[in-house]
Amino acid sequence: MMQPTGLALQRQAAGEAVAHLADEAATLALGQRLGRALRPGLKVYLQGDLGAGKTTLVRGALRALGYRGPVKSPTFTLVEVYCVSSLYLYHFDFYRFENPQEWRDAGFREEFGGPGVCLVEWPEKAAGLLPVPDLTITLEHAGQGRRARLTSTSEQGRQCLDQIAQ
Ligand SMILES: Nc1ncnc2c1ncn2[C@@H]1O[C@H](COP(=O)(O)OP(=O)(O)OP(=O)(O)O)[C@@H](O)[C@H]1O
Ligand SMILES: [Mg+2]
Repeated sequence: MMQPTGLALQRQAAGEAVAHLADEAATLALGQRLGRALRPGLKVYLQGDLGAGKTTLVRGALRALGYRGPVKSPTFTLVEVYCVSSLYLYHFDFYRFENPQEWRDAGFREEFGGPGVCLVEWPEKAAGLLPVPDLTITLEHAGQGRRARLTSTSEQGRQCLDQIAQ
């Protein structure tokens, strides 16, 4: 199995994989694999504390899709939209929501039901209103690095995970 340097991804139970991400380059490498495995309509929720590496993962995904511009954190704008490699990609960050109702008020329901890919930081801030994801990636601090757990919750999510882990 070919694994890029710095990224060791282990399959767990069906629909799960974990990786130790020793440094930022490893997070970018996982993001690149994610980017290559994205398909229209896929919803990927990125969980983890402040500074866990969620935006870094999205940056890697966009790089893999050929996007060369800056990848800004959508903390203040709520969403950054990209059109790359014939995919619409919505990068959301709901950190600033004080309650889930703000997600409804923001009017993002359409984006979550369409062909665009949704990559979502702080999905728990809209808990109970967001549709279920296809794939959840949870990042945790682990020493100087990070630990990532990938969990698929749909057939499309499982296919995406299979491609990331192969
Ligand atoms: N595997 C890693 N090991 C060490 N540092 C990392 C790793 N992955 C990312 N980082 C670093 O962590 C910092 C925070 O990353 P990032 O902005 O992606 O976090 P975030 O989860 O999006 O945070 P926020 O919740 O504030 O949006 C960056 O300086 C990044 O380079
Ligand atoms: Mg972020």
